[in-house]
Amino acid sequence: MIPPTSLPPTFAIKMKILMVCLGNICRSPIAEGILQHKCKEQGLLWEVDSAGTNGYHNGEPPHYMSQEVSILNGVDISGQRSMTFKAEAFDQFDLIIPMAADVMREIKYIAKEKYDPQKVQLLLNYSLPGKDMDVPDPWGRSEAAFHEVYGLIEEACEAMIRKHTSKKQP
Ligand code: 4NP
Repeated sequence: MIPPTSLPPTFAIKMKILMVCLGNICRSPIAEGILQHKCKEQGLLWEVDSAGTNGYHNGEPPHYMSQEVSILNGVDISGQRSMTFKAEAFDQFDLIIPMAADVMREIKYIAKEKYDPQKVQLLLNYSLPGKDMDVPDPWGRSEAAFHEVYGLIEEACEAMIRKHTSKKQP
């Protein structure tokens, strides 16, 4: 676990972050849950939400396996409901975080002229800089795949908090 931060006021800004995957039922709900949980632990005033680019599961709770691996790690994501990614997210959020390259392409396609590359960063580039790696899609796969996804997302969320609370950041 990252030790609690004692940040000066300039680093205690209220960032708004949107985690995005395809269905918003497997990966991005885990990412939303983990980052919210860690922000709460550390007293960070970040707002974290999630969305999916395909809209197939609108209004549904997270996949039962995403809920299970999260609760096993002390993170309750049962209250989340899937929603569709909209271009207006670029007006509402400071950071838009796709779980994978195909999701990033969908975000670009949906956002059109609102797309702002400065706001977009692949999640795993926080923990594995410059590698442009995907969080693999666990949909239809085993429980082990969901555990692997959880671990990858957790490491990236910890790296994200380190990066955006570092004094080196503008
Ligand atoms: P997710 O996984 O993007 O991590 O939520 C998926 C869930 C559902 C579908 C695709 C990916 N789907 O096509 O319904």
